[in-house]
Amino acid sequence: MRKRMIAGNWKMNKTYGEGIVLAQGLADELSGGTGDVDVVVCPPTVDLKGVSEVIAQASAPFALGAQNVYWEESGAYTGETAPDMLEAVGATHCIIGHSERRGYFGETDEDVNKKTRALMAHGIVPISCCGEPLEVREAGTHVAYVVDQIKRDTEGLEVDDPSAYVIAYEPIWAIGTGKTATADDAQEVCGAIRQTLVEVFGAEAADGIRILYGGSAKPGNVAGFLEKQDVDGALVGGASLAADSFAAMVKAAM
Ligand code: G3H
Repeated sequence: MRKRMIAGNWKMNKTYGEGIVLAQGLADELSGGTGDVDVVVCPPTVDLKGVSEVIAQASAPFALGAQNVYWEESGAYTGETAPDMLEAVGATHCIIGHSERRGYFGETDEDVNKKTRALMAHGIVPISCCGEPLEVREAGTHVAYVVDQIKRDTEGLEVDDPSAYVIAYEPIWAIGTGKTATADDAQEVCGAIRQTLVEVFGAEAADGIRILYGGSAKPGNVAGFLEKQDVDGALVGGASLAADSFAAMVKAAM
């Protein structure tokens, strides 16, 4: 049985102080616990330490995730962050391959593959994103497009603990647009991702890997996605920027 996961991607929002206020607000909202749901918040890199301290002080029932990582251990890579730097501030998860990183910063499937390996070597759970642009959806080739991404992102990988590798399916046309995919749209692609994972890792591992839906997910629609067989949670952007709406989504998953 896969444990549901609700992850919040704050993207480039919240200064250090604002991040602490949001994390504290979320700790208050979720003080009764999150049941059998894994909750992760992914603030900007400079906020990680502060949010980590809030989590520790409040014994908050959520984990800390970063939004990006570099695969090298250290060295002359100006502006980048190594896996052990994330570890040192308490990050246990990390988003990789988000469509904004792919689109604005040229991140490729090869990069995603290297980042996945680096994170896994440090015991950090990758939340590996995939998803098609609007023109691919309109051409009706979205399933093949995403399956291809998954194959490249997972090439040569070994997954010892399926609960420690997470995929997020985010149709790019639904991100921050208010335009959601339907629950059936999400299931169509998440089901194809699961099938690809069976081919890559075998049935047992594929059955344990969580697949999240992302793209204008909010309190009013998250339950519909979670009802689907291969949707195990949500990666939330806009609605994770307020403690009450994000907590409502966690509660809808409980
Ligand atoms: O990582 C989160 C996604 O890009 C979804 O963002 O919920 O604002 O559409 P959104």
